[in-house]
Amino acid sequence: MTNPVSTLEIARWDTPLESAAAAAATLELERGSVLFLPRLDFALAASERRFLSPRWLEGTAKNVSYDPRRAHIAHTSATSHDRAQLVEMMARFSQHARALVTNVCPHYQDKMSYGLASFRPVETRGRETSRKKDDTRLHVDTFASRPNQGLRILRVFSNVNPDGAPRVWEIGEPFDAMAQRFARRVPPPTPGSAWLLEKLHITKGRRSPYDHIMLSLHDTAKRDDDYQRASPRTHVEFPAQSTWMVFTDRVMHSALAGQFLLEQTFYLPVPAMLDERYAPLRILENIYQRQLA
Ligand code: SIN
Ligand code: FE
Repeated sequence: MTNPVSTLEIARWDTPLESAAAAAATLELERGSVLFLPRLDFALAASERRFLSPRWLEGTAKNVSYDPRRAHIAHTSATSHDRAQLVEMMARFSQHARALVTNVCPHYQDKMSYGLASFRPVETRGRETSRKKDDTRLHVDTFASRPNQGLRILRVFSNVNPDGAPRVWEIGEPFDAMAQRFARRVPPPTPGSAWLLEKLHITKGRRSPYDHIMLSLHDTAKRDDDYQRASPRTHVEFPAQSTWMVFTDRVMHSALAGQFLLEQTFYLPVPAMLDERYAPLRILENIYQRQLA
């Protein structure tokens, strides 16, 4: 059984691991561990502490998002100098996260690409939302409007809470067990729906059978009250000023409590993995006995 959390005592974002240690850490991640870096802190400058408030969110948004490829920030009320400084903070986080993944997973270096980063300044506990959007319920990550044809989702998280509050997660059962459990409840996609969703710009690109199944697993697990109450899980607390990395498309997770989190998403093609048998795409292809992307 995979250890749900594996700890690495590194204290710098920019120091390469020795190659055997890097390969071991990469394999732990691929097998479904959360890689916990208790000594790795994303330090805020004194002038950035003011951003630790939900007041920088625009409207009803729950996260500020940042696209490192375009140096573009969204869902924030910050303007002029504040906005520029918030961009600077998020850009620095994106660069640190990239350096970290490059050092821990040197094998991925040329093959992974940046997704969006987010800053999450709202307390997670007690946030009102639908069951489907409720991240306090166990789920794997998949993006309804961004089909990805099996690309892996690797995320780096840093808890930047200034009051010492941990980010509290639960880690659920292994992906294989979850997928076997729910496979029969995945309905076939409506014929022509992937084409139509793309045509109407509801999705960015065509939804593959893989995307359809992942989305259905996400929704089915979240909606199942018995599963949410009784399925196996491990309680994990990530302390303030710590960092962790995880393939969130494979690891069942839920965030129960915590405020002030930075997150950077990376995408990785399945063939770039050390062992592609651990990819959700390959696991699902085994279950369904056909090509899914
Ligand atoms: C999630 O990805 O489900 C939420 C993670 C978090 O906000 O801690
Ligand atoms: Fe999630």
